[in-house]
Amino acid sequence: MAVTAEKKLDARSLRADFPIFEQEIHGKPLAYLDSAASSQKPRQVLEAMNALYETSYANIHRGVYDLGERATEAYEGAREKARGFINAESTREVIFTRNVTAALNLVAYAWGFDNLAPGDAVVVTEMEHHSNFVPWQYVARRTGAEFLVIPVDRDGELQLDELDSLAARGTIKVVAATYVSNSLGTVNPIERLTQWAHDQGAIMVVDAAQAAPHRSVDVQAVGADFLGFTGHKMCGPTGIGVLWGRRELLERMSPFELGGHMIRKVTVEETTWNELPHKFEAGTAPIAEAVGLGAAIDYVNDVGLAALERYEHELLEYALPRLADVPGVRLFGPHAENRAGIVSFEVEGVHPHDVAQILDWEGVAVRAGHHCNQPLMNKLGVPATTRASFYLYTVPEEIDRLVEGLHKVRKTFA
Ligand SMILES: Cc1ncc(COP(=O)(O)O)c(C=O)c1O
Repeated sequence: MAVTAEKKLDARSLRADFPIFEQEIHGKPLAYLDSAASSQKPRQVLEAMNALYETSYANIHRGVYDLGERATEAYEGAREKARGFINAESTREVIFTRNVTAALNLVAYAWGFDNLAPGDAVVVTEMEHHSNFVPWQYVARRTGAEFLVIPVDRDGELQLDELDSLAARGTIKVVAATYVSNSLGTVNPIERLTQWAHDQGAIMVVDAAQAAPHRSVDVQAVGADFLGFTGHKMCGPTGIGVLWGRRELLERMSPFELGGHMIRKVTVEETTWNELPHKFEAGTAPIAEAVGLGAAIDYVNDVGLAALERYEHELLEYALPRLADVPGVRLFGPHAENRAGIVSFEVEGVHPHDVAQILDWEGVAVRAGHHCNQPLMNKLGVPATTRASFYLYTVPEEIDRLVEGLHKVRKTFA
């Protein structure tokens, strides 16, 4: 039997691909610990976008000339990469959107308005990012459906023992849940939730914004009905996201945005729709952004998602005890085994914005705020947290500098 060694991630050599790390911040090397908000971009992605603009740029799908055909090939090639990345059956199920927020709004509007009514219920989780919370709350209110929330326990895990009581509150039509919490790093049992949704006769919508960049996501294995992710959190550019949806559902849905490209035929009397995925891609597409996402997918695949997940876990295990050892620091979220590379904490008596400001003087970039998780912050009993998050270019020294910086924060406010 052939034995293959597990591929290891070498963050130090990967960092050389990222021009942003060549600079200093306040005279110190940049320790970038805010990848959950947005990741940095490797040269390979920047060069792929530049090459498109310099050599093969034109509008797509319409031109019959050479440049237009090359640009179309590049855009559709990126769609095929996105399909492979999440193991979708067909590129017809892969819709390019502006970001994951747009992907989730598409489902809430185009599916929700036509399928929800009084007596129905929409279920989300208390740890949802506002992108997968507010659209469902809004569509539920507008359609008269009930809006229900799976609560989070003190460790930041979903209280699945509440599911039965939720099921008694109405005909559940949609369950919308994040795969990984952007504030706490909690990895949710997404396949189990999907099974529960289907047992209720509901569709399952997965926000994979914090999962797809960091672990292998297979839409067929998850078994959900819709899943979205966003390019800028996985080495890609801003302005591009992906919505994957089950073909039979997408076929039955009305379009969300209307205009050019998404039509088949327009007359004064009537308009008919283009085939999938074009029915959901109105207007000029984010061509260079899709190409950038394609290059990002190649980059992340090359690193290897299994190696990436393992490496981030090592970073997390390195970070958690060191942060917990800083006097006055309180960590939020679950134990390391059920957690991605995201750590939210508070420093007793110091506002998170002051923590982040002092860390910035040390060249350490972290996020302070509610992280678009206000219901979760209410549950935790804090207005905001400070959050450090890791990616494939994070090195342990950056965590050491975070810890040293927190000691300085403590001294400053002593
Ligand atoms: C879990 C989760 N969902 C959705 C989003 C929204 O992403 P975007 O702003 O790219 O739409 C984020 C971004 O922070 C996120 O972490």
